Amino acid sequence: MKERVFSAIQPTGIIHLGNYLGAVKQWVQTQKHTDCIFCIANTHAITIRQNPQTLHATTYNLAAILLACGIDTEQATLFIQSSIDAHTALAWILECHLSMGELSRMTQFKDKSQKHPKNINAGLFNYPALMAADILLYDVDSVPVGDDQRQHVELARDVAIRFNHEYGETFKIPKAVFPTLTARVMSLTDPSKKMSKSDDNPNSMITILDSPETVRAKLKKATTDSLGQIAFNPEQKGVYNLLTIYQSLTGYNTESILGEFEGKGYGTLKERVGEAIIAEIAPIGERYAVLSKNMQYVQKILQEGARKANEIASVRYTLAKERVGLV
Ligand code: AMP
Ligand code: TRP
Repeated sequence: MKERVFSAIQPTGIIHLGNYLGAVKQWVQTQKHTDCIFCIANTHAITIRQNPQTLHATTYNLAAILLACGIDTEQATLFIQSSIDAHTALAWILECHLSMGELSRMTQFKDKSQKHPKNINAGLFNYPALMAADILLYDVDSVPVGDDQRQHVELARDVAIRFNHEYGETFKIPKAVFPTLTARVMSLTDPSKKMSKSDDNPNSMITILDSPETVRAKLKKATTDSLGQIAFNPEQKGVYNLLTIYQSLTGYNTESILGEFEGKGYGTLKERVGEAIIAEIAPIGERYAVLSKNMQYVQKILQEGARKANEIASVRYTLAKERVGLV
C-alpha cells in the first residue's frame, strides 16, 4: 500500500510564493510516489466574508493554477471541498469532541479575529474542526503544509486520538510534514511577517502568475538591511528570506551560494533571486494561460476527483456516525 497524502488550500486569491514553496511544490513532488488527495478548501474560505461570484470564479481558477503548477490528476485526486457533504457533517461530530479552550488557543483564530473584528463568527472559531474532518475522512498518513498549519494538524491528531480512545479505532492518526527550507516564506516588504494572501501591500508577495517585469520590480523593492553582508544570518531577516528562497529554488548548497555572492551587493542578490523565481514560475504562467481557456476540462477533472474522493470519505463518515450512535 502506498502512503496516503492529503492537503488543501483556500481559494482566497492567487497563490503566492509562500503557498507554492511551503505547500504546492511539495505536493507536486510527493504525488509521484504516494497516493495524493488535494482539496480546494472553499468551505473554509467563507469564514471570512467573500463575494459569492468572486469565490465561485476563484475556486475554479485555483484548480487551473494547481494543474499548471504540476498537479497531475493521472497520479493525484483533486476536488472541491464543498462538493462532498461529509466534510461539514464530520466537522460537526468533531466539534462536539473539541473544547472551546483548545479551539481558542489557535493562533490563526486569534490573528484572523484581530484582522476582522466585525466578523468573528462561529465558523472562524470552528475552522480547525472542519480541517480535522478534511484530513480524517481520508485515512491519511501525512499532511504536507507550511508552518502556519502546524497547530491545526496537531489538533486533528488530538481529536482523532481522543475519538479512537472513546469509541474504538475509527481514524488513522495523521502527521504533518514541512519543507526543510521554506515552511515559512516571509513578506518581501516586512520580513518579520509571513508572506500572506491577505496582505494589503501587493509588493509583499510574489504571486505565481506575476510577469517577469513584476517579479523584478517587486524584488527591487524588497526590504533588506544596512549591514551590507550576504550571510545566512537569521537576524538579517530580509536577506535571510531571499537566500532561503534562492536556495530552495536552485537546490544549491549554502557554501556555493555564499561563494557566488562573495564581494557582491544586495542588488545582485535581488537580481539573481528574481531570475530564479522567474525561471520557476514562467512555465506555470504559460500552462495556466492555456488551461484557463479550457475551464470545461478543469471542471471535468474536479468532478472526477469529487467522485473518487467521495468513495473514500463516505466510508469513514458512515463509521464515525455509527460510532457516536447517530442513526
Ligand atoms: P492558505 O493560502 O492559507 O490556504 O495556505 C495554503 C498552504 O500554503 C498551507 O499549507 C500553508 O501552510 C502554506 N503557506 C501559506 N503561507 C505560507 C508562507 N508564507 N510560507 C510557507 N507556507 C505558506
Ligand atoms: N487551513 C489550511 C490553510 O489555510 C487549508 C486547509 C484546509 C488544509 N483543510 C486542510 C490544509 C487539510 C491541510 C489539510 O492553509
